[in-house]
Amino acid sequence: MRFWLYSSLFVILAGAASGQQASDSVAPEIGGTGQVATSEAVAEAQARKAEGRPVEAQDWMVVAAHPLAVEAGAEVLAAGGTAADAMVAVQAVLGLVEPQSSGLGGGAFLVWWDAKSGAMTTLDGRETAPLEATPRLFQDDQGQPLQFYDAVVGGRSVGVPGTPALLQEAHERWGARPWAGLFDRAITLAEEGFAVSPRLSASVAGDAERLGRFDATARYFLPEGAPLQPGAQLRNPDYAETLRALATEGARVFYGGEIAEDIAATVQSAPGNPGVLSEVDLALYRVKERAAVCAPYRAYEICGMGPPSSGAVAVGQTLGLLAPFDLAGSGPESPEAWRLLGDASRLAFADRGKFLADTDFVPVPVKGLLEKMYLENRSQLLNGGVALPEAAPGAPEFDHALNWAMDNSIELPSTSHISIVDSQGNALSMTTTVENAFGSRLMVRGFLLNNELTDFSFRSHRDGVPIANRVEPGKRPRSSMAPTIVMAEGRPVLVLGSPGGSRIIPYVSKTLVAVLDWGLDAQAAVDLPHLVNRFGTYDLEAGTAAEAQAEALQAMGYATEARDLTSGLHVIDLRGGRLQGGADPRREGVALGQ
Ligand code: DON
Repeated sequence: MRFWLYSSLFVILAGAASGQQASDSVAPEIGGTGQVATSEAVAEAQARKAEGRPVEAQDWMVVAAHPLAVEAGAEVLAAGGTAADAMVAVQAVLGLVEPQSSGLGGGAFLVWWDAKSGAMTTLDGRETAPLEATPRLFQDDQGQPLQFYDAVVGGRSVGVPGTPALLQEAHERWGARPWAGLFDRAITLAEEGFAVSPRLSASVAGDAERLGRFDATARYFLPEGAPLQPGAQLRNPDYAETLRALATEGARVFYGGEIAEDIAATVQSAPGNPGVLSEVDLALYRVKERAAVCAPYRAYEICGMGPPSSGAVAVGQTLGLLAPFDLAGSGPESPEAWRLLGDASRLAFADRGKFLADTDFVPVPVKGLLEKMYLENRSQLLNGGVALPEAAPGAPEFDHALNWAMDNSIELPSTSHISIVDSQGNALSMTTTVENAFGSRLMVRGFLLNNELTDFSFRSHRDGVPIANRVEPGKRPRSSMAPTIVMAEGRPVLVLGSPGGSRIIPYVSKTLVAVLDWGLDAQAAVDLPHLVNRFGTYDLEAGTAAEAQAEALQAMGYATEARDLTSGLHVIDLRGGRLQGGADPRREGVALGQ
């Protein structure tokens, strides 16, 4: 059944490069097999991605993790909507087609550059710890930290979701299209069905035991007891109904009334691992506007999300530590370049582990950590030519006398990144998550509840010294999400971000070096194999050219480990009088533009 027609203008996604205008009617179709016959625009974008070529456009661009979500955003942008309008449509579809990564039951951080005012700001839609949560939330009766999945699965890990409120806040500030219509595409897909993607199917199969513990979750992801197959036709009428309520009444339906009652009841009665989140916590939820955190790098300002995310501080520190070195001269083949990147990243992670947490609860020396002299002094540690034997936190300028112990909270795969530039020139960078794949595995009214609270440190103290990122009621857990907008001469020049848990920080830092120092285009930069160092061991992306660096890095003193490194980098480069997009080949997304 044909359910959607593009405007004819919209499909010249690659016009700048190919000089071709694709044909008029390119409606995706859902056939009896459940396969989506994608639009010409998506097919061309996918072909470019497979060939390692970026998508180019003049007017607007959207890059996200699933073609159906990208199409929803593109439809809004083609109709003159803003990046904020398009983001709402993209997120509503992602919550359906990529539920393992983000959705209404999760949280997000959004960086916005406003073309009209020339101002940058950030919105914090991070989940919040319930008022009844204590620093011992993730400890057993003896005060010992729980095993990770014992903490994750069930009600205990669920924070108050921020995504619905964030969608509304962004739309109220920067939207131009009517709110309700932004959900149409997601509602249609939820009612009529969509084809389960290979990645969703593989994620379900890999998590079947945990998903099977809760009735509503099992019914949806394991129909008749078996994991969803790729291409299977999946409908989600409960999600459609939730979206209709959100569309007609706004985000307040989520934070009060029947939906809020259901969320609290599901958390509090989760079999085996109940939580304490209540309707009061939901009613109290607020999105917080925070100043963007910016750090200089070469001729650029790298701007992003400050605490409770560690993203912008750690990316800014990594690049600040690299500033004295000629990376452009060495290039991505050079082991020396990776030594510098790896050890700069380790030093940033050492500071992150000690100092970063929710600034509404603990003082964080954001300025001190990004201060020029501090980073210049610390970058001298990189002069040795061999791996740092140890990467210890520094002593940044602090306006309070404080001593924090090191944190070791754990993060594992899910999460999604959305990059959008609209025809008015606004830029949006948003990383959105339910934390672990499928979050807490609890499902309410067609969406999954997050497990974001496990981003807190499970330990509250170490050797009697408090940990900055310990659980506290009303606090937001430290994140690594790094939605980023790079500025030059007062204009945005790059929009990017990625999922990947705490590896987000090195993924984003390395992509910035790839574009700004090594001159790679947006697609080549995201294609570049990953080499990631956070805590000493060098992770090399398995099955790629990164593995060829193992010997040289070992000779410098690093332990190395080949492993999957599943980033989801989505990049828009605005330089050169056009928009150029790259979508991560490790996930299913595409870039579309006009
Ligand atoms: O906020 C954070 O940093 C994490 N909860 C994000 C989780 C994530 O990126 C998992 N990714 N693959």
